[in-house]
Amino acid sequence: MAAIATEKPKKKRSLTQIKLYVDIFLLIGFILVNMPQSTGIPVHEWISFLFILPLILHILLDWQWVVSVTKRMFGRLPGEVRVNHILDLVIFVMMVLALFTGTIISEAALPAMGINITIDPFWQGMHDLTANLTMLLIGIHLAMHWSWIKSAFQRYVFKRNK
Ligand code: HEM
Ligand code: HEM
Repeated sequence: MAAIATEKPKKKRSLTQIKLYVDIFLLIGFILVNMPQSTGIPVHEWISFLFILPLILHILLDWQWVVSVTKRMFGRLPGEVRVNHILDLVIFVMMVLALFTGTIISEAALPAMGINITIDPFWQGMHDLTANLTMLLIGIHLAMHWSWIKSAFQRYVFKRNK
């Protein structure tokens, strides 16, 4: 009995491809978040809130990596992986601080929700600081994943049919 191949054509996107699209979206979001002078503060605030969604998705797509590396953190692990894990944690904390300090100096989004907070220049300074540190850390984060970015672009953007 000859088995008849009735396989459906594969149209499934690979995890790498999905990650690439999410990462591109995330980077565009991050650039927009970092240009309040051009977008204006109200747009800056709402975009920053929306930015949380692709950010969560980005972390969830690598969640298995996070869990498995966390479990092996005190065991044998290649140096680069260990560095990436620590860096990811620092980026996460800094990003949360930028979001938090931004929220407590909100001039548009919070008042629009009926929440009025007296703006403290200290927190404005902290927002500036955490935002700048986040940008620096994201630069390092991208550099650490440069070969992944290069090969994902070559595979899915420049040679789409390969
Ligand atoms: C502008 C924002 C960001 C961009 C453009 C970005 C980009 C990337 C890229 C290209 C990769 C490698 C491919 C992949 O697995 O998706 C990656 C990995 C990863 N990113 Fe991000 N990322 C950003 C922010 C963050 C933040 C805030 C965190 C917070 C924890 C984070 C956590 C991770 C993790 C856990 C990985 C996989 C593990 C590893 O570091 O090797 N990323 N990111
Ligand atoms: C990842 C999150 C965020 C990043 C990276 C970020 C980044 C920035 C940057 C680069 C500036 C310009 C600072 C300067 O001119 O010196 C800024 C200003 C500002 N951001 Fe954000 N921001 C984030 C989230 C938020 C959120 C969630 C809010 C409010 C809901 C917010 C409210 C503001 C306000 C009101 C200013 C003007 C501060 C001033 O007048 O000194 N930001 N932000």
